[in-house]
Formats: sequence, C-alpha cells, structure tokens
Amino acid sequence: MKLVTVIPISATSCGEVTVTTVALKDVTKVFPGGALAVDAVNLDVTDGEFMVLLGPSGCGKSTLLRMVAGLEEPTSGDVLLDGELANDLPPGDRGIAMVFQDFALYPHMTVGENIAFPLRLSGVQPAPRGERVADVAAALGIGDLLGRKPSQLSGGQRQRVAMGRAIVRRPGLFLMDEPLSNLDSGLRAELRAEISALTRELGVTTIYVTHDQAEALTMADRVAIMRRGVLQDVGTPTQVYGRPATLHVAAFLGSPRMNLLEASVYVHLDRYVQLRIGEQSLYLPWTDIRSRAVAHYHGERIVVGMRAEALTPVVPDAQGDVLRGRIRYLEHHGHESLAYLDIGATAVLVDEMGGPVSGGVPGQRGLRRFGKVMSRLTGRQAPAAEQPGRTGGGNGGSVLDDGGRHHRRPAELAVRLAPYPAVSGGHPLAVAVRMDAVHFFGERGERIDVGRR
Ligand SMILES: Nc1ncnc2c1ncn2[C@@H]1O[C@H](COP(=O)(O)OP(=O)(O)OP(=O)(O)O)[C@@H](O)[C@H]1O
Ligand SMILES: [Mg+2]
Repeated sequence: MKLVTVIPISATSCGEVTVTTVALKDVTKVFPGGALAVDAVNLDVTDGEFMVLLGPSGCGKSTLLRMVAGLEEPTSGDVLLDGELANDLPPGDRGIAMVFQDFALYPHMTVGENIAFPLRLSGVQPAPRGERVADVAAALGIGDLLGRKPSQLSGGQRQRVAMGRAIVRRPGLFLMDEPLSNLDSGLRAELRAEISALTRELGVTTIYVTHDQAEALTMADRVAIMRRGVLQDVGTPTQVYGRPATLHVAAFLGSPRMNLLEASVYVHLDRYVQLRIGEQSLYLPWTDIRSRAVAHYHGERIVVGMRAEALTPVVPDAQGDVLRGRIRYLEHHGHESLAYLDIGATAVLVDEMGGPVSGGVPGQRGLRRFGKVMSRLTGRQAPAAEQPGRTGGGNGGSVLDDGGRHHRRPAELAVRLAPYPAVSGGHPLAVAVRMDAVHFFGERGERIDVGRR
C-alpha cells in the first residue's frame, strides 16, 4: 500500500484561516506538447463548502486542483482566492493545505511529530503545539497512536495522520486528491464519513477530487463533474443525480447505470408526443411541461434515460406507460436482484473517453429539424410518422453515433426486483415507467428540458 502525505502549503505565521473562497474564471491548462487537460472551467467554491470534483481518469481533476494550489500554472484564465487574483501567488502564500496519495509521511518521525511538523516549521511554541496536536489526533481517533512510527500503522491510520497534518494548521482551504483510493472499501466508507464530518465541524472550505461517484454523492455539498477537461455539470448531489445536465453526467452517476435508449419522436398535435423505443412506445401528454421541448425533435432520434428506480414490475396486461420484454439474465446482489430485460430497443453507450458532448453549433441537422417541425405545425404530413401500436420503424443511421461518441447495441433494461425473485432468464416481464422520472437528451448529449432546476 502506498503511503499518504500532506504538502503543508501555508507559510503564514500560525496557519490561521486565510483563504475561504475559490473562483475559477475560464481556467484552461494546455501542457507542453499540446495536451488540453482543463478547458475553460468556471467554478465558484463558497466559504465552508465541500466541493467534490468528479470524473473519469484523465479528465483533468488533479490538474484543476493543482492550479488552485499553485502547483500548476493556468495557460489562460484566472484563479481567484478570496476574490483576489492568485495566478502568480506562490503555493506557500496561499493558505492552503493539500492531501494526496503517493507521498510518504516522514518515516523517522512519530505520529505526533508528523502532525506537529507544520506547526514546528512555522515556529509555534511546544506547549500550544502539543495541545493542538492532541486535539487534532483526538478528533481523528488516533490519540493513542501519537508515539508510533508510520511503519507501525495501518493504511487507514496513516491516512488519518496525513489528514491531521493537513488540518493542524487550520487551513482556510483544504484540497484532497483521491485521498482514500488506496484503501479497502470498508475503510473508505468509514473514512469518508469522518472526513465529511471533520471538515464540516472545522468549517473549512474543501475541494475533494475523486472518480468514485459514491464518494461524491455521499460527501459533497456540491459536485462538479468533468469530462475531458470540460466542466459538464455543477450542483448538489440531488440536482446532478436527479436532473443531470448532459448525457455523460447521466451515464456516469448511479448504480446500476441509467438505462439509455434510443427513441424516435413523433408529435401528435391533438394528443401527445410519442416516443418510439424499438417496437414499443411511451407517450408524453401535452400536460407534461417537457412535452413541448421534446416535440422540437419531431422525426428525430433522441435518448430516453430511465434509472432502475423509475421502473416497476407490473402484471403482464397492465396498461399505461409500460414496456415489455424478456429477462435476458439476472444479477443477484443480496439485498436486491437486477433483471436485464430485452425490450427490442437500442441502447446508447456513452463513451467516457470520447470527445466532449457539449459545444458545436447547430448545423444542417438543426435546420432539418426546424423544417420538420414547421411542416408538421403547418399541417403537412411529416415523413415517417407512425401511429401508436404500429410496428416497424426503420433502422437507418443513428443521429447519435456521430463522430464515434456514442455506440449502439441491443438494450438491456436494468430493472430492480426483490432478492432472488421467482423468475429466471427467458421469463417475460412488464415494467411500468414513471414518466416524470424519465430524462431526455439530444443528439449532442444536451439535456432536453424546460426551466432551471
Ligand atoms: N505534466 C503533464 N504533461 C502532459 N500532460 C499531462 C501532465 N499532467 C497531466 N497530463 C494530462 O492531462 C490530462 C488530465 O490529467 P489529470 O492528472 O488532471 O487527470 P485526472 O482527472 O486527475 O485523472 P486520474 O483520475 O487518473 O488521476 C490527462 O490526459 C493527462 O495525461
Ligand atoms: Mg488525478
């Protein structure tokens, strides 16, 4: 197991609270050689907030954090600490503490000496130093380990020492880069609860980097989700989970992953907006406030997203918003079973390493869409509109497979069942769809919706 350490960045006299807010303005980082690691990120972190930067490996999280710490210089854009431009401020003058992997605690020092080290550096007298160390160690539950050397500690205990060394100076801003990634899952869960509690107790503004969505959703006040250097979405865990701004965010958050299905949109002016999913259909009544936004995609394909919790098994002849299929296979998770249902639909797989889903101007496709909507609204029959219940539906090129960003394959709809249900592979299953919990995304991965969250 790797050791963990802290870079005590602050050099102010007693390490008292200095920086409490961070603002990033169009911050971009291009590394020599041309790698665009961070792409025009705008982000505000407020006083006392626990902000989690979340995203897959290589999306630019560490680079962004290191620019806040002053360990990396932005290529363009501004880093403001407490409202003051800090681009040229050396790391030691930023009043920041940072914890991350890959660096060792001082092996020849005891736990107490390791935690006290930043205080000693800044000239704090032995008596107050000892008091502060004892307080911090007690808060972290390592008060009885002060005399040990790092080699005599478990990974979790070392991690706590690293945390202790970072917070002992009472930084105004605490930066953590995947501090738990080397630990086993039980310890991670325990420590993440402790870190949340501790930082909130101290009221210290925290930016915490992880690629683990469970960590992000459980710890954060707000989550900032990145992909390929681009900030995709920022919001509370409830907001980003409940109303993801992009297809990428939708696919990244949640377990099992959100079911993402290709659907064709047909507007029936007198009744509803029809969403054809394979040979089946769901209907958005005009009373649904999202129906107008979805109607703009008449004649086009969009992505319909349904989390497992939006799907409830129902009796085979149930009416309403129901999808039917056969169980392809079951997965037993102890507390629940997941059925993967073949409903004759096409899945949209989001390529995490692919290009950014945002950006680009509406091109010809936008014009074509506009033309189709107009022709529909002026009463002319739109091409290929289908009536509910009719089978068919061509299998032309997907509007969603442009540039290799998304891939298609037969959908396996993940549905939650009670543990060890009395069904097995091949069994038919009908599921009711909670239409208010369904998400819609356009061809570039943008959320189709109305209003603000
Ligand atoms: N010093 C460097 N020189 C060139 N490219 C770099 C450098 N550091 C990072 N990169 C590149 O910048 C991108 C972002 O890297 P970064 O370390 O910020 O990702 P990350 O989100 O922290 O990933 P991980 O979860 O794997 O730690 C990557 O493509 C990486 O290869
Ligand atoms: Mg990293």
